[in-house]
Amino acid sequence: MSDNLRALCRLEELPDGGAKGFEGPPGSFIGLLAVRQGDTVHVYQNACPHIGTPLDWVPDRFLSADGSHIICATHGAEFRISDGFCMRGPCQGDSLERVLIRINEGVIYVVENDVG
Ligand code: FES
Repeated sequence: MSDNLRALCRLEELPDGGAKGFEGPPGSFIGLLAVRQGDTVHVYQNACPHIGTPLDWVPDRFLSADGSHIICATHGAEFRISDGFCMRGPCQGDSLERVLIRINEGVIYVVENDVG
């Protein structure tokens, strides 16, 4: 098993305090979402732990109005940005699936395991 790095975008393409959706790995129908807080970026699978639907109703709309947490558009679950933990909603206590990333020379890469 080895790690593959797939470039998502440049850090500067993500607005500080904002979020953006991306395609998942090739062959996967589950997308990704990235939230930027300064030089830190949190990336999760774009699938709600409740019933697995994408979190955004409108593309790239993942955050509450004040930008303090991630919201699922389907039933309103609220997730902490820092670790994806669901604080409120039907999947309270569950967490979004974190995706490992690296930031190298201003480019955000997701780490994808190459099994086999
Ligand atoms: S699908 Fe996200 S809260 Fe129900």
